[in-house]
Amino acid sequence: MPPMIQITHLRKEYKDLVAVQDLTLELEKGDIFGFIGPNGAGKTTTIKMLATLLMPTAGSATVDGIDVVKYPEKVRSVVGYMPDFFGVYDDIKVWEYLDFFAAAYRIQKAKRPQIIDDVLALTDLTIKKDAYVESLSRGMKQRLCLAKTLVHDPKVMLLDEPASGLDPRARIEIRELLKELQSMGKTIIVSSHILPEMEEFCNKIGIIERGEMIVAGDVNTIARQVRGQHTIEIGVVDELERAEAILLGMSDIIREVKRTSGLRKLTDAAELGIAQTLQKNGHSSSGGIVQIGYVGEPDEEYRVLQALVQANIKIRMFHTPSADLEDVFLRVTKGHVN
Ligand SMILES: Nc1ncnc2c1ncn2[C@@H]1O[C@H](COP(=O)(O)OP(=O)(O)O)[C@@H](O)[C@H]1O
Ligand SMILES: [Mg+2]
Repeated sequence: MPPMIQITHLRKEYKDLVAVQDLTLELEKGDIFGFIGPNGAGKTTTIKMLATLLMPTAGSATVDGIDVVKYPEKVRSVVGYMPDFFGVYDDIKVWEYLDFFAAAYRIQKAKRPQIIDDVLALTDLTIKKDAYVESLSRGMKQRLCLAKTLVHDPKVMLLDEPASGLDPRARIEIRELLKELQSMGKTIIVSSHILPEMEEFCNKIGIIERGEMIVAGDVNTIARQVRGQHTIEIGVVDELERAEAILLGMSDIIREVKRTSGLRKLTDAAELGIAQTLQKNGHSSSGGIVQIGYVGEPDEEYRVLQALVQANIKIRMFHTPSADLEDVFLRVTKGHVN
């Protein structure tokens, strides 16, 4: 199967400004790609080229195997595009608004009512079917715009900052909706300049800065590449100091040991020594959570757990928190903005 989206050395110039340069990317069906970058980085320009609304200066792109420059009409039938800014129409009801777009996509009149009901249900707007568009809250308008991009059941969705300007509750609603679209097997590109909202549902991310894709790929792989290590959180029922001492002893695969909860902040080995002495003398120690920076091979993480278990440390948690994209972003970008 060809990739659902294939971008090859794509370039866009606006007069003497290069907005996008040498951008290459491949996405499979079902991928949710978080397109991340500061304002002015080139996200909107890239998305508009995929949506066939801007002509590339050079390079090429295909959606579902269809060339965006050669067959824009065909591409539009498989793509749902939600722009970063959209006008909503006054004096029109929610269902009329959707009916208008369904007609524009040449969906037969007889089929439209069912489709409208379906997209309203999906975007949780059923009760607003007969409301006027201008009476909707900003979050609802955003969801209506998403509903609009779904009327022709596109395989690919291009969503340009769909959660921007929304309050936290409305952002969560958009996020839930994207997860639902993901479960329907859609391929989605979603742009944002805000990172944490992406990590929950994107399986791939790309970071763009000044028109160039700096890194792109699987979320956790990128996090590991950028950091050269990844975080494991370990919770112990008691004997936190002894657990820390064991971890510090594994310096071949553990770079840092940091206490995130517990009684005292662990600073150095001397302090650890005190803790161990206290313990030998019969003082009990408390439990807590330590974070380690693991630098070993991904499939040898078990060695850490094994060492703790063999030492009879009572473990209640051992996991890798999802990649902290904020951290990745700060490491990769240097804060340049066009
Ligand atoms: N129509 C245009 N004419 C000239 N320059 C533009 C135009 N649209 C965008 N740009 C410039 O191209 C760069 C990329 O913009 P854009 O793709 O909107 O970035 P983003 O969506 O990441 O914020 C910016 O420097 C922006 O000012
Ligand atoms: Mg933009």
